[in-house]
Amino acid sequence: MNADAARALDAADRLAPLRARFALPPDTVYLDGNSLGALPKATVERLRTTVAHEWGEGLIRSWNRAGWIELAAAVAGRIGRLVGARAEHVSVGDSTSVNLFKVLSAAAQLVPGGGARHRIVSERDNFPTDLYLAESVAERHGLELVLADGEDGVLAALDERTAIAMLTHVDYRTGRRWRMREATDAIHAAGALAVWDLAHSAGAVPLALEDDGADFAVGCGYKYLNGGPGAPAFLWVHPRHLERIEREGLRQPLSGWLGHAAPFAFESAYRPAAGIGRFACGTWPVLSLAALDEGVRVFDAAEPLGGMAALRAKSVALVDAFVAAVETRCAGHGLALVTPRDAERRGSQASFACPGGVDAFAVMAALIERGTIGDFRAGGRPGEPDLLRFGFAPLYNAFDDAWRAAGTLADVLATEAWRAPRFAARSAVT
Ligand SMILES: Cc1ncc(COP(=O)(O)O)c(C=O)c1O
Repeated sequence: MNADAARALDAADRLAPLRARFALPPDTVYLDGNSLGALPKATVERLRTTVAHEWGEGLIRSWNRAGWIELAAAVAGRIGRLVGARAEHVSVGDSTSVNLFKVLSAAAQLVPGGGARHRIVSERDNFPTDLYLAESVAERHGLELVLADGEDGVLAALDERTAIAMLTHVDYRTGRRWRMREATDAIHAAGALAVWDLAHSAGAVPLALEDDGADFAVGCGYKYLNGGPGAPAFLWVHPRHLERIEREGLRQPLSGWLGHAAPFAFESAYRPAAGIGRFACGTWPVLSLAALDEGVRVFDAAEPLGGMAALRAKSVALVDAFVAAVETRCAGHGLALVTPRDAERRGSQASFACPGGVDAFAVMAALIERGTIGDFRAGGRPGEPDLLRFGFAPLYNAFDDAWRAAGTLADVLATEAWRAPRFAARSAVT
């Protein structure tokens, strides 16, 4: 690829007009949509309306008149379409962490085998919140968290002691992607339940939760779904479990009033709502939910252009183009791709390990000062190299972004601009 080829790819890209739906600052190459999605322009107007009109004038009447009470279910339907799930099996609200607590706790009550199965198996390199919450759920249910290394380690750890396997579909550091159906089959063959974290998958790769037979899933609203900082997250429960949860009167532990069968009856005893309704807890954040609704609606605009399949094809092409450009333009600087080259085995990011002597944090800080925004992730274990992580959101990233980012990275490495002391200063959020 060169600059002309990148421009030609953008000119031929049917999805390219979607970029105009986002308020991306000029002169910025934004490759961090896997951490915080960009702002859809429609969100600005939607929030203005929700705040000034619905809240300001409608006041409490807006729960009914503006449909705030139905908003969570409406967004659940939109997200469901992106993840291969039916609206009535998706709940939107709370954070990914809180939702993980709910579904792991529900899964712990459904474990087959009456006590013989006492392990939650996960990956040592899983996102920390997943491990912390699994530990907490394990403590409460008399289970034990067992951590394995990599896919082979997890698959080898599955046995008659396994109650739950909790896996993050796309690894946040490397971008490595599990084969969901095969892994779920292996988990089921061992007699356990599969809980999936889709934080780096929803809106980035096509998903078929119900068809793949997964048991539970959670996902994030502020990454590829463009819901804005701290956007509500979602959870999904396979209908076979929802039916059993209802039949056996099982509870998710955060039994708040909006998960009650009749919240406005104000009964003193908890009676769970039917179906997925019981996975709601307290009042949902309407402003954030309105923003998430707009974030997800952008995917509706992609439907006539080929939808998630077309977005995925573009994501693959973007990451391939970026990797090729970095490997050509940064040759000799020792960067090593840690993301699988096989598109079937990765999400929508490319992560490069920096060689010893090159401070990945400072390199990323220098890139950000030059308007190319990715992020830095420390190596997983002692001695492992630190990573430069670049996420590609096919709704708004262009091939020109890939080309320009690779050029800026080459320049920062060749000039050693990253060595300037100001790039060593770390803020609270990296
Ligand atoms: C895999 C994964 N799970 C969960 C989370 C975050 O959860 P929360 O939104 O509750 O902070 C992240 C955040 O980056 C993540 O990468």
